[in-house]
Amino acid sequence: MTENHARFTESDPQIETRVDDLLAQMTLAEKIGQMCQVGGAHEGNEELIRQGRVGSFLYVLGEQAREFQRLAVEESRLGIPLILGADVIHGFRTVFPIPLGQAASFDPEIVREGARIGAREAAAFGINWTFGPMVDIARDPRWGRIAESWGEDPYLAACMGVAMVEGFQGADLADPERIAACAKHYVGYGAAEAGRDYNTTWIPERLLRDVYLVPFRACVQEGRVATIMSAFNDLNGVPTSGNAFTLRQILKGEWGFDGFVVSDHSSIVEMIQHGFAADEKEAALKGVTGGVDMEMVTTSYGDHLEALIEEDKLSVELIDEAVRRILRIKFRLGLFENPYFEEDQRAVILCDEHLEAARKAARESCVLLKNDSVLPLDREIGRLVVVGPLADRGKDQLGCWAFAGRGEESHTPLQALREALGEERVVYAPGLEDCRSADDRLIPEAVAAAREADAVVAFLGEDADLSGEARSRASLDLPGAQQQLVDALAETGKPLVVVIMAGRPLILGPVVEKVGALLLAWHPGTMGGPAIADLLLGVESPSGRLPATLPRALGQVPIYYSHKNTGRPPQDDGPSIPPGSFDIAGWTSRYLDVDHRPLFPFGYGLSYTTFAYSDLEVETPKVGAEDTLAVTAVIKNTGDRAGEEVVQLYVRDLVGSVTRPVKELKGFRRLSLEPGQQETVRFEVPVSELGFHGPAMEYIVEPGSFRVWIGPNSADGLESSFEVV
Ligand code: GLC
Repeated sequence: MTENHARFTESDPQIETRVDDLLAQMTLAEKIGQMCQVGGAHEGNEELIRQGRVGSFLYVLGEQAREFQRLAVEESRLGIPLILGADVIHGFRTVFPIPLGQAASFDPEIVREGARIGAREAAAFGINWTFGPMVDIARDPRWGRIAESWGEDPYLAACMGVAMVEGFQGADLADPERIAACAKHYVGYGAAEAGRDYNTTWIPERLLRDVYLVPFRACVQEGRVATIMSAFNDLNGVPTSGNAFTLRQILKGEWGFDGFVVSDHSSIVEMIQHGFAADEKEAALKGVTGGVDMEMVTTSYGDHLEALIEEDKLSVELIDEAVRRILRIKFRLGLFENPYFEEDQRAVILCDEHLEAARKAARESCVLLKNDSVLPLDREIGRLVVVGPLADRGKDQLGCWAFAGRGEESHTPLQALREALGEERVVYAPGLEDCRSADDRLIPEAVAAAREADAVVAFLGEDADLSGEARSRASLDLPGAQQQLVDALAETGKPLVVVIMAGRPLILGPVVEKVGALLLAWHPGTMGGPAIADLLLGVESPSGRLPATLPRALGQVPIYYSHKNTGRPPQDDGPSIPPGSFDIAGWTSRYLDVDHRPLFPFGYGLSYTTFAYSDLEVETPKVGAEDTLAVTAVIKNTGDRAGEEVVQLYVRDLVGSVTRPVKELKGFRRLSLEPGQQETVRFEVPVSELGFHGPAMEYIVEPGSFRVWIGPNSADGLESSFEVV
């Protein structure tokens, strides 16, 4: 992902000619119609379609989609097909792990495959446009939408966002099993103050360009994403849905994006609430002049653009530009040749191939945080006691933004463990009515069952409704009386495994100290149960790595690995007032009451085997700005089981014309190794990817000394150096 990527100039001359020809035939009302997306099917839609006054629908699918498309194609004057959008975020009926979970796999291939499958199933219901990938950088787990993100790192988010775009769109957008993607929410939405959704964001331009814009640029310039969605947030005083700097200067100007921009749900009209527009007419004006080509659900464009043109407040050229972009994507989708979906495409819904892919994705997304030889469980175990409010909740394991997913189609952990071990060997005691319950009356029953167990597995965390949009939490603790349940189960002294299902990093310190093993499964999707059972029973070894830092305490948030060094970095670990004394151990950037380090760092995760890193070699100790850095290391499986390691490459630019992060991820590789097997991993990184936006806000790669690491996570690894000359 380099800043100086070739501009997005891949346009098909035939399509451009067709766009021009069609645009020339359109009335102003028909042009404005294309810029309007209607939410859902309502009374009167049919007439709007016949008049050519709507270009898109949100959440209209199946037979309603077919009828609306027929009206548009056969009964409107110019027969312009509709683009039909919905949120296929992590699967359709076959639901994959939430994106934060998929990010933990560090495996772009499972993301690409999951998006391909999601597109295939959604297209069978007439959806030809999805509002994904979400590529917001999220560094505050209080923000509920971290669940939909790829986590804290721009490099990982760019890799996964591009993979998801490619999975949705394929090589040919006109393929009936592919759908247009939409990188969202442009831009900076994840930086909401205090982690409170929809809240204000203040992002200096350098941080915007070096972090928050990076995955969007990759989706545009590498993924060729068809559409972009503007966001809800006020960015430095200018709402992102009316922000000509980000939308026109950067996205459409610098990057040459030639798809179209859709607003978020009502975000045009919400510029009134922001205090950026006096009324809907001004909101419409600021939306179009800001660079938003299509309005989602609200009707300010349809109600006011014609008058704004007539009053000479808005040039028709801006309307033409917006409509050109929309028509271009409709032509690329092949909608003029093939506007309808085929019923028989539905044979693939929840097919074995899809379920197996979802199971693999869920398995690879689980992160093993602790294991004191409790896992894997003995498959000959006499009595396994399963506890917890999430052991058998099909709908909750799907997570947020799984509108087409059905809880009854989920395979839960309890079902999977009973299938694997036999009903008679698996006893279930919920322990709590649900995740948020403070009612501890069921705990004694769970404890009694645990006392008779050979091992106990407790499924805890957040229900699906505790994460996603408008689901910010001011606490990151386990909700309800779940910690009380953990403490009571730990008292029994039985081998205790906790599996956490959640849409965000939680404060898990109190859990870690009480259990023998801890597995973070995020919200794992339809096949979460079999995937977790595969890991608990040792069919596969866990291989997920943290895409977001796990804080030790809420007070540390925001906390992320690629932080700046400060002038007084913390020198030691642990609180700086040793008990019984009032000496301040170092006037450094630290806390009095908590170790400044995270509980678990970005990139962290365990396996059932162990890996040793050796022989780090920088093949290119001196590199120019146009060269490629080459670094190798040997990784060996030093345990007695096969396993997958995620080998990670980090760099640090020691001195810059602006301060630089202490580490930045610049490569990763999943490696499968048998016991005793070793492999040399080689990373090649274009030096042009080691740059940043300098004092004059231009993208530069500065000469100087760099550190480089190859290791298992962002805190550990073999270290060396190189020079950019
Ligand atoms: C929502 C979300 C956005 C989603 C859109 C359509 O408010 O912010 O992510 O794609 O509306 O459902």
